[in-house]
Amino acid sequence: MHLLQPFNVLLLGTSLALASLSETCRCAENTCTVMACGNPGLNGLPGRDGKDGTKEENGDQGVQVRGQQGFPGKAGPSGSPGIQGPPGQKGQKGDITALDALQRQVTALERNVQALQADLSRHKKILLTQGAMIVGEKIFVSTGQQDTFPNGKALCANAGGALASPKNVNENTALKTIANRNSMYAFLSINDIQTEGRFVYLNGAPVSYTNWKPGEPNDMNNEDCVVLLVDGIWNDISCEHKSLIICEV
Ligand code: GLC
Ligand code: CA
Repeated sequence: MHLLQPFNVLLLGTSLALASLSETCRCAENTCTVMACGNPGLNGLPGRDGKDGTKEENGDQGVQVRGQQGFPGKAGPSGSPGIQGPPGQKGQKGDITALDALQRQVTALERNVQALQADLSRHKKILLTQGAMIVGEKIFVSTGQQDTFPNGKALCANAGGALASPKNVNENTALKTIANRNSMYAFLSINDIQTEGRFVYLNGAPVSYTNWKPGEPNDMNNEDCVVLLVDGIWNDISCEHKSLIICEV
């Protein structure tokens, strides 16, 4: 027997005794024949650095990560106008009845106006055959009879006209034609009954056109009315003198 054997036996016995007392008693799986038991010891000092490892090949290419979206750019210039769109839907029908009624009224009025114009044309022709004179919008007509100024004034008014009031040379010439035809003096509407020397029309307005005979008006024996002489010139005369009555309409 070796000298150490008793010592080993002693260690073994001691270990067994300690193992029976310790709470931590482990053994690696089937690797130990003798179970090591006892309190863990303190950590040992760090070991020396290992040898350098083998150099690796280049790594895989990195993955590119998309950046964040930038701010919107400035608005571009206006584009050219687009193509005209298709026509819209047809609108609702208007008030046909009212429109038709108005159209019928207008048509009827137009027929009436045409009929009146035709009537007027016929009456003008008749007047012309009776010796009337048409000057512009004015018609001079005479019965061929002589009367005083007051009677002549009433006669024309009753006929819807007035005693002749020549306002220009054309109208005066037309009256001269009528007077010459009858070889008479013809009363005009002009008078100075209201104010001596101030000759006015029937409505009181002062005369705007005159064709006095030289030396007239002379107010001989208080003459306040006016006659157109055969040659177209004027003379003041008595309103009670009987002269040709010519009306204008
Ligand atoms: C003469 C006068 C005229 C007058 C008339 C009266 O013709 O010249 O002024 O009015 O007589 O009848
Ligand atoms: Ca006179």
